[in-house]
Amino acid sequence: MAEKPRLTTTTLWDFPSQQYGNEQQGSQHYAGATPAYIIWNLLQRYTKVKDLVVDPMAGSGTTLDVARDLDRRALGYDLNITRRDIYRCDARTLPLEDGKADFVFVDPPYSTHIRYSDDPRCIGKLVASDDAYYQAMALVIAEIDRILKPGRHMALYVSDSYVKGDGFYPIGFELFAQMRQHFEPVEIISVVRRNKKLDRGNWRKAAEEGNFFLRGFNYLFIMQKPAVPRVRAARAQIQDQAPPIRPAPPATKRPATRRKYGARGPRKRR
Ligand SMILES: C[S@@+](CC[C@H](N)C(=O)[O-])C[C@H]1O[C@@H](n2cnc3c(N)ncnc32)[C@H](O)[C@@H]1O
Repeated sequence: MAEKPRLTTTTLWDFPSQQYGNEQQGSQHYAGATPAYIIWNLLQRYTKVKDLVVDPMAGSGTTLDVARDLDRRALGYDLNITRRDIYRCDARTLPLEDGKADFVFVDPPYSTHIRYSDDPRCIGKLVASDDAYYQAMALVIAEIDRILKPGRHMALYVSDSYVKGDGFYPIGFELFAQMRQHFEPVEIISVVRRNKKLDRGNWRKAAEEGNFFLRGFNYLFIMQKPAVPRVRAARAQIQDQAPPIRPAPPATKRPATRRKYGARGPRKRR
C-alpha cells in the first residue's frame, strides 16, 4: 500500500510512488504523470479549502484528484482528453476569466520524449533546440499569469533535456527566466526522478561510454504573482526614490532700484 503523504520540509523531494493512499490520483499508466505527492505538498502549503486550483495541461488528472481529495475546487484543461472532467483546449488560450485561479500547477512537455497526442498544437511536438518550444511556453506562462489572482502562487514541474548527438538543453533555467518576467520566485525544489529506465544496464552503459548524464531530478519552481501589478509597483518605487520636486517660486518682479544697485540701493558717495 502506498504511503500517506507528509509535508516535506527540505528542498529535496523523493517519493516512493506516483500515487498516495488507497485512492487513485491521475493514472500511473499515463506517460509523464506527475507524482501526486508533489501536488499534495503544494496545495497544503499554498491553498485552503474551496480555493480554485487550475491545471492547464492536466493529462491524466492528478491535480484534479489531489485537489478534490483536499476539498479544493479543480479545473483541468488539455489537448489530449483522458476523462470527462478535463476540457479540451490549448493552454495558451484558456476559457477562464482573468484572476479566477487561487493556484495553478503545470507539468508541461519537455521536448519530444513522449508522444501525447496527434494534435498539431501539442507542445510535446516541439524540440527543446527550437525557439518555437520557448515561444509556446512563454504564451502558456503569460496565460497562467492572466488567470491567477494577484498575490497567489503557481508551480511548474520540468526537467532539462539531453539528446544524444544533439546536446544539452537547460529547459528549467530557460522557463525560470520566462516566469521571472511575471512572478517572484518563492522556492526551487529538486525532485528525484524515479524512472526505472535510469537503472537499466544499457542506459548506464550508454551514459558511461557517451560521457553524458541521465536525468536524475526534475525542477519544481514555486512562484508568486505580485499582489500589486509589476508596472504599478515599479512606478511607485521610482517615485519613492526620486528627490521631491520643489515647485518653482512664483516669478515676481523686483523693484527697479534693487535690480540695478542690489538690495541696499545705490551707495552714497563719500
Ligand atoms: C507531462 S503531461 C502532464 C501530466 C499530468 N500532470 C498528469 O499527472 O497526468 C503534459 C501534458 O501536456 C499536454 N499538452 C501539450 N501541449 C498542450 C497544449 N498546447 N495545451 C494543453 N495541453 C497540452 C499533453 O497532452 C500532456 O497531457
